[in-house]
Amino acid sequence: MIRAATGQSVERTPVWLMRQAGRILPEYRAVRASLSGFKELVETPELAAEVTIQPVDLLGVDAAIIFSDILVIPDAMGLPYRMEKGVGPIFDNTISEVSDVAKMKIADPGDDLKYVTDAIAITKKELNGRVPLIGFAGAPWTILSYMVEGKGSKTFSEARKFLYTEPKGAHELLDKIADSTIAYLKAQIEAGADVIQLFDSWAGILPKHQYLEFGLRYINKICDAISEVPITVFAKGAWFALKEIGEINCNTIGLDWHTTPAMARNLVGGEKTLQGNLDPCLLYASEDELVKGTIEMLENFGKERHIANLGHGVYPDTNPEKVKLFINTIKDYKF
Ligand code: CP3
Repeated sequence: MIRAATGQSVERTPVWLMRQAGRILPEYRAVRASLSGFKELVETPELAAEVTIQPVDLLGVDAAIIFSDILVIPDAMGLPYRMEKGVGPIFDNTISEVSDVAKMKIADPGDDLKYVTDAIAITKKELNGRVPLIGFAGAPWTILSYMVEGKGSKTFSEARKFLYTEPKGAHELLDKIADSTIAYLKAQIEAGADVIQLFDSWAGILPKHQYLEFGLRYINKICDAISEVPITVFAKGAWFALKEIGEINCNTIGLDWHTTPAMARNLVGGEKTLQGNLDPCLLYASEDELVKGTIEMLENFGKERHIANLGHGVYPDTNPEKVKLFINTIKDYKF
C-alpha cells in the first residue's frame, strides 16, 4: 500500500475498506455490546486496538485504520459529542456565532487525545509490521459542519448558512480546526501511523467557489504541514474540484463512485495515486455481478498508482462474506 501511495511498482493492487472496523463484523459488535457505548470503545486504547486489528485477521485487508472517529477533534477543542443509538452523533452545545468560535481552544493532542495515540502505539505493536496503520482526521469543513449543526443533517443548511452569515467567524473556526488537526496528525505519526487520510465527507454540498475558499484552502494548509508520511485526501462528492485537489501536496486522492477512473486520471494527471471507488451498494448484488464490477474497476484504474477501496464506507448491513469476495477478487487478480 505504501509503495502504491508513493508511485513505486507493486506486485498487485492493495486493498482496504473505509469503515472496515465496525458493525459489519459480529466480532466488533460483541466487543461493543460489552461496553456502555461507542465513546467508551473509542476512549479505551486496548479495545480500540483490538477492533482495529479485527479486519486484518478476519478479512485479510492490506491496511488497518485506527478505530476512532473524526468527532474527537471538536471534543478536544471544547465541544463534546455523544453517540445516540439509532440517531448518530449529537452535540449538546454548538457554534452559532463568532463569540462561540473564540471559546474554542486549539486541541492539545498530548493531553486531550492521548487515548488515540495510545491506541495507535498498542495497535502498531500488535500488528508487528504485518500491514501499515492508517491514521486519520476529518477535514476542517466537515468538522465545522458538525460543530455548527450539532448533529447529522440531510442538507447541512445551518452549516452552509454560517458561511454566508459569518464568513469571518467561519474562517477563524476553520483555522483553529486546521491547527488542531495538524498537531493531532503529527501526534498520530509520532505514535506510529504510517499513512494519513483526511475525510471531507461533506465536500460535495458546497458550490465550487465556496469549496475552494472554505474547504480546500484548509486541506492545503494541513497537507503542506504534513510531510512525514503519505497523505490521502478523500473529498466526497467534490468531483467538480478534482483538478484543484490534484494540485494539493498529497500522495493519494480518494474517489467516490460518481467519478470514473478515466475522468479522475484525466483531471489530476499522472503524479497522484487514486483510491477507490466501487459503489458500496454493489456488495448487495449477486456474487457474479460483484466480481465482474470489481475486475472492471481494477482494469479501469490499471495496475500502478491505485489502492482499491469502496467509494465510501462499507454499510453496516453488508454481508462480511461479500466483503471477503471483494477483497479476494482483488488479491487474486493478475494484470
Ligand atoms: O473502520 C474505520 O473506518 C475506522 C473508524 C471510523 C469510524 N468513523 C468509526 C465509527 C472512521 C474512519 C470514521 C470516520 C467518520 N465518522 C466520518 C467520515 C467518513 C464518512 O463516513 O463519511 C464521519 C462523517 C463520522 C461521524 C460519524 N460517526 C457518524 C455520522 C456516525 C453515525 C453513523 C453511523 O455510522 O452509525 C458515527 C458513528 C461511528 N463511527 C460508528 C463507527 C464504527 C458506528 C457507531 C457504533 O458502533 O455504534
